[in-house]
Amino acid sequence: MRETVAILDYGSQYTQVIARRVREAGVYCEVFAHDVSAGELTARGVRAVILSGGPASVHEAGAPSIDRTILDAFPVLGICYGMHLMAQVLGGAVAAEGKREYGPAEFESLPPASALFAGLAPRERAWMSHGDSVSRLPQGFHAIARTDRLAAAAMSDGARRFGVQFHPEVAHTPNGTLIIRNFLFNVCGLTGDWTPAAFVEEAIREIEVAVGARHAVCGLSGGVDSAVAAALVARAIGNRLTCVFIDTGMLRKDENREVVAAFGERVPLVVVDASARFLARLAGVVEPEKKRAIIGEEFVRCFEEEAEKLGTAAELLVQGTIYPDVIESKSRDSKTAARIKTHHNVGGLPEDMALGVVEPLRRLFKDEVRRVGAELGLPEDLLWRHPFPGPGLAVRVIGPIDRPSLDMLREADAIFLEELRAAGLYRDVAQAFAVLTSTQSVGVQGDFRTYGRMVALRAVTTDDFMTADWARLPYDLLAKVSARIVNEVPGVNRVVYDVSSKPPATIEWE
Ligand code: XMP
Repeated sequence: MRETVAILDYGSQYTQVIARRVREAGVYCEVFAHDVSAGELTARGVRAVILSGGPASVHEAGAPSIDRTILDAFPVLGICYGMHLMAQVLGGAVAAEGKREYGPAEFESLPPASALFAGLAPRERAWMSHGDSVSRLPQGFHAIARTDRLAAAAMSDGARRFGVQFHPEVAHTPNGTLIIRNFLFNVCGLTGDWTPAAFVEEAIREIEVAVGARHAVCGLSGGVDSAVAAALVARAIGNRLTCVFIDTGMLRKDENREVVAAFGERVPLVVVDASARFLARLAGVVEPEKKRAIIGEEFVRCFEEEAEKLGTAAELLVQGTIYPDVIESKSRDSKTAARIKTHHNVGGLPEDMALGVVEPLRRLFKDEVRRVGAELGLPEDLLWRHPFPGPGLAVRVIGPIDRPSLDMLREADAIFLEELRAAGLYRDVAQAFAVLTSTQSVGVQGDFRTYGRMVALRAVTTDDFMTADWARLPYDLLAKVSARIVNEVPGVNRVVYDVSSKPPATIEWE
């Protein structure tokens, strides 16, 4: 059975980051609800447990707890709240400090040298974010680190159980990754057998079993996730997979051609030019949410029609759902989250379709999806492509949409991306695109007055797309892109660069 680490989620904003660090170390891990039982972890092949931090205090009534036998059955690393919980459950004490400590701190390792801190300097920087702290260690434990404020900034039972008050998973703890690796390899003796090749081999076996002799259909969106899901399933079941690519007319330049080039030879591929029906339904629509609703609805309809035409060749639907979607949908609290935009995953599942679902990437993070894609031989350009919204260029043409506007935008966007790539900066930004604004302005070209459209360029840096900053692209690059767009795209006479962060702006303009 594959080495698995369980991360018990106590609600920390960093739970996913812990999971990523463990995976980056080459160890497979999964996030579990904190009330999982030791029995279930054993059944899932778990070899070690990490307890996340969290916003609660162990003193609160109803604070999240743990199946006590987990602390005896597995090596455990408790982080922040996880450390408090471990201390309390094992008979130590936790004090409410009255004042939160938030920010950088320095900790000092205490003798005897702990396996958790192998390779670290005697003093190291670490990120703190807590109110409570461990005031009395459980029997059998000793402090392995202290700070100016805390006598027990980290603790150990000298064998397999550790607690750290700080957050080794965040980048602000410079050697945090080493601490996590020490736990996985020095303490737990794991080997790090989680590689893209191993994943592909295992996933293929699982898909073969899940699909049996049936046929499957996959909606390609041009994005990374659906592409890798399709390539993986194709590897397992060959031409019993049919891919459907719906050209909504809202795609980027050459996207259609690139998908055919990447997939045409791998699997039976149905390319549907549905641009006319999408454009007809969008005629005159200005309101962004209405655009989204129409495209989402039309897409489902279109996809269903194609699936129906395939008949028995469409018994199962392949989807490119990835792990952050799974974790998020489990933990999302819709009561507190305000709806800013309705996100439609074009290529997503029509809710009431009578198809079984195959989601081979449900346990992968984005970077792992890319590495699996590379393992499957998908082109680099496709794997590193920036995310693209389901409604496509419809939310980047401000105001009413028609074919000439879309064509104008496609050209401007392609020039921007081409120059960004040529400057070697494409991978340095998370997303870059052009927007065709509804503003018209006066210009002069040659000896003539023009009255043309304004294109806005948007490029952002972000880790999670929840917040973002505008990318500080070099002026020379912007100058070149601007000159090319006004010269090469008829109808555009002005180019601006968007210098808004998110919040208060969003990444897309609509
Ligand atoms: P915003 O504009 O909300 O975008 O800051 C955050 C990220 O989500 C993408 N986005 C979408 N993705 N369907 C999608 O699949 C949508 O309707 C949609 N709207 C925005 C956006 O491109 C950015 O990456």
